[in-house]
Amino acid sequence: MGSSHKTTFVRDQLNSLEKSGLYRRLRTVIARGPMANVDGKEVINLCSNDYLGLSQNKQVIEKTITALSEEVSQCASRSIAGNHPKMIELEGLLAFHRGTESALLYPTGYTANLGVVTTIADKNSTIFSDELNHASIVDACRLSGATIVVFRHNDTDHLQELMQRGSGRKIVITEGIFSMDGDMGKLAEIKSIADHHDAITIIDDAHGDFIFGPTFSGLPAKMGVNFDIHVSSMSKALGCFGGYVATTFPIRELLINTSRQFIYTSALPDHLCSAAIAAIPIAKSGYLQRRLQCNILYFSEEIKRLGFKVGNSTSQIIPLIVGNEAQALEFSKELLQEGVFAQAIRYPTVRKGHARLRISLNATHRQEHLDSAITALENAGRITGIL
Ligand SMILES: Cc1ncc(COP(=O)(O)O)c(C=O)c1O
Repeated sequence: MGSSHKTTFVRDQLNSLEKSGLYRRLRTVIARGPMANVDGKEVINLCSNDYLGLSQNKQVIEKTITALSEEVSQCASRSIAGNHPKMIELEGLLAFHRGTESALLYPTGYTANLGVVTTIADKNSTIFSDELNHASIVDACRLSGATIVVFRHNDTDHLQELMQRGSGRKIVITEGIFSMDGDMGKLAEIKSIADHHDAITIIDDAHGDFIFGPTFSGLPAKMGVNFDIHVSSMSKALGCFGGYVATTFPIRELLINTSRQFIYTSALPDHLCSAAIAAIPIAKSGYLQRRLQCNILYFSEEIKRLGFKVGNSTSQIIPLIVGNEAQALEFSKELLQEGVFAQAIRYPTVRKGHARLRISLNATHRQEHLDSAITALENAGRITGIL
């Protein structure tokens, strides 16, 4: 083949990522509750979205194994292969949980966002999107062909001002708990502005679902508001896998009939539906959230006392803001030496110059894990000049 120039760009791009501190390397990780084995080393895990520890719950695993003994996958889209009864059962539970008429499963939360936004918005629509919305929302908005108007993070005055403009169908989309900042969307104010402009409201509640709210049914319930469309992921607090949309019957019907991310991909396997069906009653019982809330209160106080900048987080997601990408990476590496696994989050996941360590706490962390992690963070923070 000789040395072809056609792939020179690959090497150039990788070199450029390395130079700017943006290169991503995948480690070998086996997570076990509060701990993880990272490249052969046992460390405290502060990286997992398994906020309630349900991915390793014995009851959930047993039910999943039983379902798996029958079939691995439907190997087709539901439009072709139909509904497995477990899908219908799970959708019923999820709709009841979110307080909506119906729910529809998607293979992932990512595809759920793509499916909803491209179904609701078209090139004549205007989408008003929070600047810190997750990449799956950003991609969904782009794919829809709509005019995208980005409002400053949680800035309802800005949203109000921007909504005077815009033509066609108006859609407002925000998150419940923001995935990289851990703060809560101002849902009541956003909903009221959207209603004033007769806009369709969409919430991605991947990180608030099963954690907050009177019956753990998420941020809108906590804030006493209702959104037209709820999107969520079952790979966070439920400890399972897959995405879902909770909404009205007619919107569900439209998704089934027009959403390419629903029609042209294989269905969520039924054993994963069984996993979620087993996890829901445990998540709804509330004792794990109580433990998690204690961890959040204790850890956040200690971290702030040490002088870390944590933004406006009031949840299990606690960003330790560093700024510089290379320094964030150094902090993460040093922390691993100290026995704690927490990822450096860099551009394009967050804006350039806003790199951070994203800490996520879960209900399986005990006092000794939190105390060891705090000591390690203090040491790594001092060594890398962050503290
Ligand atoms: C806010 C938000 N939405 C959607 C997703 C995608 O969910 P999934 O991992 O199920 O594709 C994520 C995943 O990190 C997320 O943080």
